Amino acid sequence: MRVLIVGGHDDQLATAIGMAVERGATLRHVLSPEAGLQELRAGRGADLVLIDVAADIGGLIRALAAERIFVPVVAYGVHTDARAAVAAVRAGAREFLPLPPDPELIAAILEAVGDDRRELVFEDRAMHELLGLARQIAPSEASVLITGESGTGKEMLARYVHEHSRRAERAFVSVNCAAIPENLLESELFGHEKGAFTGATARRIGKFEEASGGTLLLDEVSEMDPRLQAKLLRAIQEREIDRVGGGRPIKVDIRLIATSNRDLEAEVTAGRFREDLLFRLNVVNLHLPPLRERPADLGPLAEHFGRKYAQANGLPARPLSEPARARLRQQPWKGNVRELENCMHRAVLLATGDEIGPEAILLQAGGPGRPRGPAGALALVGRTVAEVERDLILETLQHTLGNRTHAATILGISIRTLRNKLHQYGDEGRPIPPPAGGFGEPAANRA
Ligand SMILES: Nc1ncnc2c1ncn2[C@@H]1O[C@H](COP(=O)(O)OP(=O)(O)OP(=O)(O)O)[C@@H](O)[C@H]1O
Ligand SMILES: [Mg+2]
Repeated sequence: MRVLIVGGHDDQLATAIGMAVERGATLRHVLSPEAGLQELRAGRGADLVLIDVAADIGGLIRALAAERIFVPVVAYGVHTDARAAVAAVRAGAREFLPLPPDPELIAAILEAVGDDRRELVFEDRAMHELLGLARQIAPSEASVLITGESGTGKEMLARYVHEHSRRAERAFVSVNCAAIPENLLESELFGHEKGAFTGATARRIGKFEEASGGTLLLDEVSEMDPRLQAKLLRAIQEREIDRVGGGRPIKVDIRLIATSNRDLEAEVTAGRFREDLLFRLNVVNLHLPPLRERPADLGPLAEHFGRKYAQANGLPARPLSEPARARLRQQPWKGNVRELENCMHRAVLLATGDEIGPEAILLQAGGPGRPRGPAGALALVGRTVAEVERDLILETLQHTLGNRTHAATILGISIRTLRNKLHQYGDEGRPIPPPAGGFGEPAANRA
């Protein structure tokens, strides 16, 4: 993952940078928000901007919005400076990273943005065959469509194809079409010229040009609106793109990989996805089977995640007991590998003995593994959004044993939002699970 740091040099920042590099981040450092903007406009993209709390964060965030550049911004500063932290978040920063840095918080922030160093684990015959096919087609220039249920490892497989391609030494650029607001996606993909729209104060290079020479991953491509689908089709057919507001087409040299967890043929039939675009993307189809159809992967994956989260939490690596394995085998794993990963993360934290026992294997509350029938819907009707939200937050916290960093990650909200909610519930007289002890949650994140 690429992190762009905006701000002055500082010893504590250097420590934070060291931790991020250890976790696989690559870094660029500029001194001012203006220099940061130049980097992003020039197509030297970043997955995360870390900015000094003393810098003009509001100014940078407004400029990013006006120039339709989509990148999360996290502020950093000394942990005692609460007022600056609040101001940074008010100005639009996603999160505040207190210095001196806490390793777990850095890991949580980097994980939320996406980690590109993950090891692909597999043993099942179905996966051997699929990865064999992936290696076989990787060196060609053919577009690849990766399909499979949510959480099966589509993004990991896309990286695998890139790493086995002739472009492995070049850029791998990923765009999540579902996460980027529709009105920003065109600029994100194709860039724009100065003056293309109000706010376009300078030329901006899009992901197609940024990926030139390398691989472009269009993640969740089914979420793209029809107008953009037409532009994408042209880009694939002609191997050239038009920047928004641009007068002449620009040649691009990219290998395209797309993913979808929807049935794209059904989307075509329903009139939501262009058939000609599907043909262009689907030169080779790699279909990831759901976890329940590759039973031989379950054990190795569970052990892999067990080791990973023991290490991340500074706990000893413990084997899975036979009853715990049996319990894992009984689960339907509707959320696939991601659900197993979350389950093992919890198990590592919950286990008490020398082994991870079956009592530590819990399915996620309200997660994809729990059936949600009409009874669930009825139980919700008649309650306010605030009540349901409160119960969801408190239940999630119980499952993370009060670890707020993990709870916020699972809930998809910032640690700050979580903390504010808990303050509010505390004021309303609700019991709140105590903050986790022993997992190294930073003191600055405790309510
Ligand atoms: N074979 C594997 N080995 C190790 N980790 C895996 C494997 N497959 C998936 N994972 C892990 O499971 C999680 C989900 O993987 P990934 O994001 O690639 O899935 P996805 O199919 O793109 O999911 P979604 O449809 O939700 O976007 C990630 O944390 C990834 O590291
Ligand atoms: Mg994905």
